[in-house]
Amino acid sequence: MTDFTAFDVAHIGSVELLTPKFEESKAFFTDLLAMRVVAEEGDSVFLRTWDEYELYTIKLTASDAAGVGRTTFRTSSEDALQRRVAAITETGFGGSWVDGEVGTGPTFEFTDPDGHAMAIYYETERYVATDDKPALKNQASRFPGYGVNARRLDHINYLAKDVVANGEFIANALGGRESERIKLDAGGYAAWWFHFNNKSYDVVYSDDWTRHGNRLHHIAFAPDTREDILKAADIFIENGIYIESGPHKHAINQTFFLYVWEPGGNRIEFANAGARLLLDPDQPVVEWSQEERKKGQAWGMKTIESFHTHGTPVVDVVAD
Ligand SMILES: [Fe+2]
Repeated sequence: MTDFTAFDVAHIGSVELLTPKFEESKAFFTDLLAMRVVAEEGDSVFLRTWDEYELYTIKLTASDAAGVGRTTFRTSSEDALQRRVAAITETGFGGSWVDGEVGTGPTFEFTDPDGHAMAIYYETERYVATDDKPALKNQASRFPGYGVNARRLDHINYLAKDVVANGEFIANALGGRESERIKLDAGGYAAWWFHFNNKSYDVVYSDDWTRHGNRLHHIAFAPDTREDILKAADIFIENGIYIESGPHKHAINQTFFLYVWEPGGNRIEFANAGARLLLDPDQPVVEWSQEERKKGQAWGMKTIESFHTHGTPVVDVVAD
């Protein structure tokens, strides 16, 4: 594992979501999550939440099928970027340098072993509020005060054919530190949680039963409070958005959660994940057995079946 003190990757920069229902998906993010369009390019719009310091976090792209495009990560310095590019290249999954998108500087593209497109950069442009100036100068833009008011992008959870290989890649190539994992009785992990900063997770891999490759389980946004997540559930039923699971509390990492499917089919979580921070530099990984996970979520709700089967793109090939 990479030295904890490195902190080379600061946080997730952005995620590209693919949708077969572009206008409906765009309305989900702008009308219900209170995100703002900052740029449009080809078949894509770039969207920001109200308190992110960079220009955007979601690139929404019209596509034949739902799924995930490129995830970007911002490093903590130019030196950190060079260290990570060297480490990525050493894994054999490195790609090439490209121009950054919408305010981001030189960007190095690569994939994880499962085929998820990724990229890393350091230079970035800070958002300067104009018609959405906040009352307090320590906030990126004005609190929108409608819909879910998603404050920031919190984490991404990929599906992967081989959780172990992909988790090791995040550790070795990006310096991710493991926080929790589910050990399978037969060996390997059903899921593995990694963090770059003091949040308890930023990137997660879950076992893809279809063995398809390059699929998304979900991305998560962070509202401020549990109450915001309860209110979000009310807003979603009023607007015909499918609620898949929650509100409830995860056993793993103790996140209060709500899962919905946006109109394009991608699973979106609203997670109060910031309450529990990992400040211990020697934090031991927390490992759960299959038997322990059978108990369900924190307060006993069983994990619903579609949580193990639905991902995007939707594929109907189920492994034996
Ligand atoms: Fe999550």
